[in-house]
Formats: sequence, C-alpha cells, structure tokens
Amino acid sequence: MITRQKIAPNGPEFSRLIYGTWRILDDADPANCSPQALLSRFKACADMGITTLDTAEIYGVYKVEEAIGSALRLDPAFRSKIEIVTKCGIYIPCEFHPDRKVAHYNVTAARIIKSAEKSLRFMGIDEIDLLLVHRPDWLTSADETAEGLNKLLKDGKIRSAGVSNYNTHQFDLLNSRMDQPLVTNQIEFSLLHMDPIFDGTADQCQRHRILPMAWSPLAKGVLMDKTDPAAARLHAKAAELSAKYNGATLDQLAYAWIMAHPSCPLPIIGTNKLERIQAVVKAADIRLDREDWYGLWEAAKGHGVP
Ligand SMILES: NC(=O)c1ccc[n+]([C@@H]2O[C@H](COP(=O)([O-])OP(=O)(O)OC[C@H]3O[C@@H](n4cnc5c(N)ncnc54)[C@H](OP(=O)(O)O)[C@@H]3O)[C@@H](O)[C@H]2O)c1
Repeated sequence: MITRQKIAPNGPEFSRLIYGTWRILDDADPANCSPQALLSRFKACADMGITTLDTAEIYGVYKVEEAIGSALRLDPAFRSKIEIVTKCGIYIPCEFHPDRKVAHYNVTAARIIKSAEKSLRFMGIDEIDLLLVHRPDWLTSADETAEGLNKLLKDGKIRSAGVSNYNTHQFDLLNSRMDQPLVTNQIEFSLLHMDPIFDGTADQCQRHRILPMAWSPLAKGVLMDKTDPAAARLHAKAAELSAKYNGATLDQLAYAWIMAHPSCPLPIIGTNKLERIQAVVKAADIRLDREDWYGLWEAAKGHGVP
C-alpha cells in the first residue's frame, strides 16, 4: 500500500512513491504519448496511490510540461487529486532557442520567476506544489536564487521550494537565505549510486527532518541489465532472496532497499509501463531484514562493509 508523507515540517504531503515524467515522450509507440494515454497513466497511478508527479522545464527538451498540460486539460477536475513537482534552471540549445550555443544553468531571480510562470502556463495550473532548482548554478549567488523563490512563494505561485543535486554546503547556503525552509533535496540514489549515504546529503535531510526524493532508482535501467557486472551480482543476490520476499524481483528489492534508508527517500518511478509501475507498488510493502539490506549493499559494491 502506498502511504502518504509530509515531506518537511513546513512542506506538502506527497505519495511515498512518485511518478517521474522525464521519459514520457520517449516511448517507442507514439500512441503511448498522446494526451489521453498520458492522462490514463496518471489516473492509473493515482488509483494505486501514486498521486505525486515529478517533471521539469527541460524534460523532453522543453516539451514534457506542455504534454502534461494537454493531458490535464482533458479532465480539469483531476488536477486537485494530484501534486505536481517541477524544476527550473537548465538551458540547452534547442529548436525553440537557436540563439543558445552553450548548455548552461541559470537560477537568477528573474529566470526562476520566468520559468515558473511558463511551467504554470504550459501545464495549465494555478500553483506548483513544489518548485525545485534543478541544479546548482555556480554563477548565481544564493541571495539571488532565494529572492526568486521567496517571491514565487509570497505570490502563491508555488506552495513550497526545494533543490535538486545540491551538495550539503550549497543546500545550507541557499536555505540560510530562504523565508521558508527548503523542503527537499532531489538526489540520485540507488543500489548503483550510493553517494548520498556517503557524502552527507541523506544525513543532512535527516538533520532538517526533510525527505529526499530519489531519482533514477534503477540507475536509468542499468540495474536491470545483466551485462553490467554490478547489476549481474545484484541479479544473483535477488534470485537468492526472492523466495523469502514473496517472489520479489530485483527491481522491487531495489526500491525496497532505497525506501528502507532512515532518511525515508521518496523514489521517483521512471518506467512508462503500467505493469512495471504495479510491480513497484508491491515493493512498498517489502521490509528488508538488516542482513539482506547489507547483502544487497555488498552485492552492489562487490565487497563487504569495511
Ligand atoms: N533531478 C534530476 O536531476 C533528475 C535526473 C534524472 C531523473 N529524474 C527524475 O527521476 C525519474 C526516474 O528516473 P529514471 O527514468 O532514470 O528511472 P529508472 O527507473 O532508474 O530508469 C528508468 C528506465 O529503466 C527502464 N526500466 C524500468 N523498469 C524496468 C524493468 N523492470 N526492467 C527493465 N527496464 C526497466 C525503463 O524502461 P521502460 O520505460 O521500458 O520500463 C527506463 O528506460 C525521472 O522520470 C525524473 O522525474 C530527476
């Protein structure tokens, strides 16, 4: 069963699993990318308890937010049943901006406000539940970035603000300039990318009592590829554990492994396939034994704990 979690003392309540929209326009079958198909998938997710959608201005090279908007416009009442997370700050050369020559970050106040207003317009919504600064921009001061986020909060255009891919120092600095504390750090976290448990980002979330969001929980699909040496070791370990966990597969154990971490990460599901989303929902009920959690850690690393 998918529970709901307040992601920060001052933050919104999200579903324990989140649906990620990065790849929704990449499906080999264009019929799966139509507004109707997307709305059906979002509704199927909501029916399973996955009510939170993660997107970003840049997804689909700036086309995904519009696609979400086209889907939501088919049933305007559905908007009130979900929470929408989006991100701003990454600008790459593309068909809409032939003048742009170099991919860059920009999280100045003016740019953040312009991006958020565009996200609202593209998705046809009045308020963004959570706006994240997608990546730290080394050329913008924390005062500047906070000014943009604080204005959007004050104007009611966003309900809460957070960051993604920030290290602990960058998080502390921006947080110190905010009128309302940041509510999350969305970070890459999986069996094949354990940095957050070593670099302090997951600990920092616990210190602030905020929940991290975990992106690429299956390492962009590499975890399911047995030709990858670490993935192959994990497949063997999953085969050993499967019977004990009611026939669980590696993808399910990988989600359970992330969710077991005490920082309580909210994994963001990346598949376009409904049957795979249904399998992930079952993973939310798996409670890994301590030795099995460490057994998966060991299989991923290829060696035991120090
Ligand atoms: N903040 C950031 O910087 C950032 C960066 C990246 C992603 N994200 C967010 O995180 C979300 C998830 O990331 P992700 O898409 O990389 O997630 P992921 O789950 O790690 O990878 C998804 C990929 O794995 C494949 N896959 C999923 N289940 C599978 C299975 N059982 N067997 C074989 N292949 C499987 C999917 O293909 P199928 O569709 O064919 O199943 C898809 O190609 C994104 O949608 C986005 O919202 C955020």
